[in-house]
Amino acid sequence: MSNKNIDWSNLGFAYIATDYRYVSYFTEGKWDDGALVKDPEITMSESACVLQYNQSCFEGLKAYRWEDGRIVMFRPDLNAERMYTTAQRLEMPPFPVERFLDAMDQVVAANADWIPPYGSGATLYIRPFMYGKNAVIGVKPADEYEFRTFVTPVGPYFKGGATPVALRIPDFDRAAPRGTGNIKAGLNYAMSLHPVMEAHREGYAENLYLDPATRTKVEETGGANVIFITKDGELVTPKSDSILPSITRRSILYVAEHYLGLKVTEREVLFEEVPEFVECGLCGTAAVISPVGRIHDHGRDICFPNGMEQPGPITKKLYDTLTGIQNGSVEAPEGWIREVKI
Ligand SMILES: Cc1ncc(COP(=O)(O)O)c(C=O)c1O
Repeated sequence: MSNKNIDWSNLGFAYIATDYRYVSYFTEGKWDDGALVKDPEITMSESACVLQYNQSCFEGLKAYRWEDGRIVMFRPDLNAERMYTTAQRLEMPPFPVERFLDAMDQVVAANADWIPPYGSGATLYIRPFMYGKNAVIGVKPADEYEFRTFVTPVGPYFKGGATPVALRIPDFDRAAPRGTGNIKAGLNYAMSLHPVMEAHREGYAENLYLDPATRTKVEETGGANVIFITKDGELVTPKSDSILPSITRRSILYVAEHYLGLKVTEREVLFEEVPEFVECGLCGTAAVISPVGRIHDHGRDICFPNGMEQPGPITKKLYDTLTGIQNGSVEAPEGWIREVKI
């Protein structure tokens, strides 16, 4: 059982430094053995590649404490693979998948006291990241890298938890065609800071980005993929080369089809067809499945029938089934759960 003096049920989504982080350095063409360290601070050159040219990437996943006391992670192999692909696109040396999984095991086990109790609604968020560390001044990749993972206990990403959020269509784009929208690079998030602050100042939780080439198709928000439900109960989700392949979304598609018997379609979604959908949700590790009640588009509001009070019925079933799998009350598909031995 957790022995930290924290009000677990009222945690927000914020960083709390925990006891240990896992660190491995890439120098002279290879990764070192890696180790757990206690120091949460990093020191580097003022001309480090990450500071000058933003050569950085990250992942986000969660560990859960089950009712029987077991500690598990949800599909960490997919995070390992996505970080591998991301690193290749950024000319960074990929961190091997098996080493990634071992690092997650070690850092979660070392911080076991920080894993929120079963039933508290909080989880342990795991943040692996990697950056180019040595000094560069010409535009080129670094030669030396740090792979580091810290963990921090978190509550819901959106204030209000499972109550629906309002989105707006921004005047900014998220990702260029053939750009970096499909990888988890820090640069994608740097550019979203201004639009998301603007959204917050206008009273919206997030931006719903359209495709930058034509601005007619739905892409995703700054930190989550989107799902829609048709009036016939079909799950529709945008297909695009410039959105992040969300592990939560991929899991929801499976759950919808194999646990709930829904028809599932991944296809281009025109923004003009959005008013015909009856439910909308944001999905991601942090967002889990956050229902959307309203989308604002330049003076026009699209309101989903469930409104701003509660999730729609299918969104709720998907949420209950997915979180049931994550917290051990619903049987998981083969290979989705990795137990961490403490
Ligand atoms: C831009 C973006 N899309 C989607 C997601 C959801 O991905 P996942 O379900 O793998 O957490 C995230 C969060 O990781 C994200 O940052």
